[in-house]
Amino acid sequence: MSVTDSTHTSELVARAKEITERELVIYSERTKGSQAATERARKVLPAGVPSSFQAYDPHPIVVRHASGSHMVDVDGNEYVDYDMGFGALFAGHMHPAVKRAVEAQLSEGTLYVTPCELDADVAELLAERYGFPMWRPTNSGTEATMDAIRLARGVTKREKLVKVEGGYHGHHDEVMISNKPDLADAGPADAPHSIPQSGGITQGTIDDVIVVPYNDADALERVLRNEDVAAFIVEPVMENIGICLPQPGYLEAVREICSKYGTLLIFDEVKTGITAGVGGATKALGVTPDLITLAKSIGGGFPVGAFGGKAEYMDLITTGEVLHLGTYNGNPLVMAAAKATLTEACTAEAVGEAIARNHRLVGACQQIIDDAGLPAHTVEFGAKGCITWSPEPVTNYRDYKATDFDLAFAQWMHGINRGILLPPGLDEQWLISVMHSEDDAMRYADVFSEFVDELTA
Ligand SMILES: Cc1ncc(COP(=O)(O)O)c(C=O)c1O
Repeated sequence: MSVTDSTHTSELVARAKEITERELVIYSERTKGSQAATERARKVLPAGVPSSFQAYDPHPIVVRHASGSHMVDVDGNEYVDYDMGFGALFAGHMHPAVKRAVEAQLSEGTLYVTPCELDADVAELLAERYGFPMWRPTNSGTEATMDAIRLARGVTKREKLVKVEGGYHGHHDEVMISNKPDLADAGPADAPHSIPQSGGITQGTIDDVIVVPYNDADALERVLRNEDVAAFIVEPVMENIGICLPQPGYLEAVREICSKYGTLLIFDEVKTGITAGVGGATKALGVTPDLITLAKSIGGGFPVGAFGGKAEYMDLITTGEVLHLGTYNGNPLVMAAAKATLTEACTAEAVGEAIARNHRLVGACQQIIDDAGLPAHTVEFGAKGCITWSPEPVTNYRDYKATDFDLAFAQWMHGINRGILLPPGLDEQWLISVMHSEDDAMRYADVFSEFVDELTA
């Protein structure tokens, strides 16, 4: 970056901080009902929220109603929802087909704990889309990655796990390592330390998890050569640091290295899922892992997950050598929602349209960035997109940490006060669901353009 570039960026950052300060006051004024609801909730729920991801300062918006691509908070403010349940609502809020299927199932019963035909219906649909013959449903992405890792350990009879720095795979202990480590603790970029992200994780677990940088096949090979590793778990496209794409050849190299050392490759497609296209990132990118984990977008807003894989691995569950259990697995309401999502709401045609709409939105935002000469760029994958506040592409967690969070936060605050609802953590991306109209999608670009006008005035 030249001196002129860095002066330009510091001027933008100074302006961004002024915008943030003003927008925080506006936010407090227009969300007094959410503030009161959060104060009440804080007395009975830690941080006033059911999951710590939902907490942000000064208080989160508290929602009363959602439908299609819109949400209304308890103060009556309306938002176009681009968060869409951290990407879970690719079908939209209460898609008519999902609603019909769940309502019909309600009159047939909500829980059997003995199989129903919907279990196989959904597994067949996943087999068709992802090309693996056998699947098991879970209740969340966390369970899917936890069970896939156990299966990989059962198959390989090895204990170590390798994950990527900056990668999030749910909240069980062994993947709560180096999700967003402080760089002061994180160690060398090509051989990062394993940093627990929460209290309560044992040293034994930390020792079992080795962390590598994304987009660095050599670093992976160095680890697999020297350690007996059961599995490498990775999002084929990282979607918890904005959107971080694999560099050409990276996933192919990862595939080859894992096969060479007898390590199972787990693609965590909880976020890419069907938002990447009907067969997920696996089909879109053409690299086949050994196991796939899914959740979010396949469930139409219901608490679902699934993992599937090659028959030789899933057979260990058939024989009972590896156990996979759960009272609510295959819950009929959830299976009815997943079936309707996969067959009626998120058809190949609807998915294609959402991806095309997203492409137009990404193009409009990139044009605004180019016209204003901003130190930012857009990234897109399937029906998702993001604005990353750095001139250079992000290839791993360390690059992501070098992006400008002041500019990102100012844009987020400015947007939420104008009805643009994005995930709060600045590490996510927008999702254009099958229920976002062209106007809904483009609203984001209109508000972004207003923000850029102010920023550069
Ligand atoms: C890539 C990835 N894997 C797993 C999970 C965990 O899913 P869940 O929140 O359903 O437990 C998430 C959640 O955001 C995720 O992004």
